Amino acid sequence: MTEPHVRPARLADLLPFTAAIGDGDFLVDRLMRQRNGLGVLFFAWLGTRPAGDVYLWLEEAEERPIRRHLPGVALLTHLQVRPDLRNLGVGAALVAAVEQYLAECGRERVALGVRTDNPAAARLYRRLGYRDWGHGEVICYARATLPDGRVLEEPEDCYVLVKDLTPVTPAPRSGSSPIGVSRGW
Ligand SMILES: CC(C)(COP(=O)(O)OP(=O)(O)OC[C@H]1O[C@@H](n2cnc3c(N)ncnc32)[C@H](O)[C@@H]1OP(=O)(O)O)[C@@H](O)C(=O)NCCC(=O)NCCS
Repeated sequence: MTEPHVRPARLADLLPFTAAIGDGDFLVDRLMRQRNGLGVLFFAWLGTRPAGDVYLWLEEAEERPIRRHLPGVALLTHLQVRPDLRNLGVGAALVAAVEQYLAECGRERVALGVRTDNPAAARLYRRLGYRDWGHGEVICYARATLPDGRVLEEPEDCYVLVKDLTPVTPAPRSGSSPIGVSRGW
């Protein structure tokens, strides 16, 4: 079976990923943030098929409780996998890529918010070692761009989950790392 391959987004990936998973405006915004050193947008491929994405938010959290309790902690955000390619390990591979990237940067912790009405995603995170942060639920704001260009911000009740990471020695810059995360930009 083809294993998922994950790497930081490149400009040339935008077209195939937007065609496959939509969210073009979101992907452009995150790619721009990546270019400005504010985060990393990871894309997952299954063979030649665009399969999913996740954005590593390296800025301070937008939600005040998260800023207060987890200052400076990177956030795993917007994990999504194409509906027809789910349950094949793509989601887990995207999470592993984020964790490996952070561990190689010497970061000791990662956090995320998951909607309280999304038990499937919460189950995946818990299986991967994420635990409740112990400070209650948080209202997060999901941004959606409408076809006419207007941006909507919808409040969502979220659990906040955290995972401690073990720092590792960075892989050599050339070639691929052991879990198939290319570091090329
Ligand atoms: C949540 C989401 C990202 C998971 O992506 P995924 O690619 O299906 O994730 P995985 O394949 O790694 O894991 C999903 C399940 O498939 C199982 N699985 C993984 N590889 C498998 C394989 N080769 N064969 C059979 N099952 C497999 C996993 O054990 C896991 O089981 P679980 O649900 O009991 O934990 C995806 O469902 C999605 O995009 N949902 C909509 C967006 C969303 O909710 N995002 C989360 C925001 S916080």
